[in-house]
Amino acid sequence: MSLMRTMILATAALGLTPAGAQAPAKLKVGLMLPYTGTYAALGHAIENGFRLYVAEQGGKLGGREIEYVKVDDESDPSKATDNVNKLVKRDNVDVIVGSVHSGVAMAMARVAKDSGTLLIVPNAGADAVTGAMCAPNIFRSSFSNWQPGYAMGEVLARKGVKNAVTITWKYAAGDEMVRGFKEAFEKGGGKVTKELNLPFPNVEFQALLTEIAAARPEAVFSFFAGGGAVKFVKDYAAAGLKKNIPLYGTGFLTDGTLAAQGDAAEGVQTTLHYADGLNTPRDNAFRLAYAKRYKLQPDVYAVQGYDAAQILGSGLAAVKGDVSKKAEFIAAAQKARIDSPRGAFSLSPAHNPVQDIYLRQVGARENKVIGVASKALTDPARGCKM
Ligand code: PHB
Repeated sequence: MSLMRTMILATAALGLTPAGAQAPAKLKVGLMLPYTGTYAALGHAIENGFRLYVAEQGGKLGGREIEYVKVDDESDPSKATDNVNKLVKRDNVDVIVGSVHSGVAMAMARVAKDSGTLLIVPNAGADAVTGAMCAPNIFRSSFSNWQPGYAMGEVLARKGVKNAVTITWKYAAGDEMVRGFKEAFEKGGGKVTKELNLPFPNVEFQALLTEIAAARPEAVFSFFAGGGAVKFVKDYAAAGLKKNIPLYGTGFLTDGTLAAQGDAAEGVQTTLHYADGLNTPRDNAFRLAYAKRYKLQPDVYAVQGYDAAQILGSGLAAVKGDVSKKAEFIAAAQKARIDSPRGAFSLSPAHNPVQDIYLRQVGARENKVIGVASKALTDPARGCKM
């Protein structure tokens, strides 16, 4: 045997790349997430979930090692275009993963659409991302704002609730979740009598809570998340409203926040595409692996990060890591069935998950699943032409 051949065999046995055969360059993933501010914990959970899936694949997707470039977007839409352009133009990333805030994500979608860069949205629900702004290279592993809002509208209408007040931050996520809620609730015979708002990320809730007390609706529907959700749920209970006017919301209100909310969150019902106590082999394995690696319990954001990596992996596997084969990547990713901890899902033609929305109730510091609010709920993708 020639010396060269012996060396190649020896290096292969050690898992090394033989001299002369170039290791494929690392795949650059641009993580644009909030690492500071009211959504900081959400950004960290998404990154953790993403990295967990990559680690489970031996650190590679489509045969390529992953290199991360990170930007803290601060959940600030006014900085979003500059931030995403840094990733695309300066860092030349192969794919962008982000973000949490709907306003930031819409700016990212605009740049992705213009530049053709692959974008996977691991949280932000902005309806337009898989609606009017939809594009072949834009995918979402999370939800549209319409989805969990609509499901809660169905739940309250089925309960026979006749009137409700809504309260949220005044920006795309709050507006669109309320719109989805109202659509289903009013179709089912209910009436939204008042829509209360405050600017993102403000947390001075007192004046609005006084208005709720005076209006005495049968129910309150709300969207807040992260640090703001912790304060809202505590203030709602402290104002003495909880026992007379039940609080409902999309599941972000109580996901990743229960330790900080304590008793104030007990009994609150929410709708979301993830829950505690699903008790499936897939979710149990995920939760164990996440808890072992990070010494933390996973939440919906961790699941969405994990599934963003799965979507990327499914496209990359089909092109053996060569992202320049964009059409083949897209064809594979859009028909992938994602084996998610939430339950397996597929993507709609607009690239948004078609998924079950669970009804959950807080008990003993968990968002316990108590039913399926809406089965295989598909976002209507209004305005999407693709
Ligand atoms: C959003 O801005 O789309 C958003 C932010 C935080 C959430 C959910 C949606 O928990």
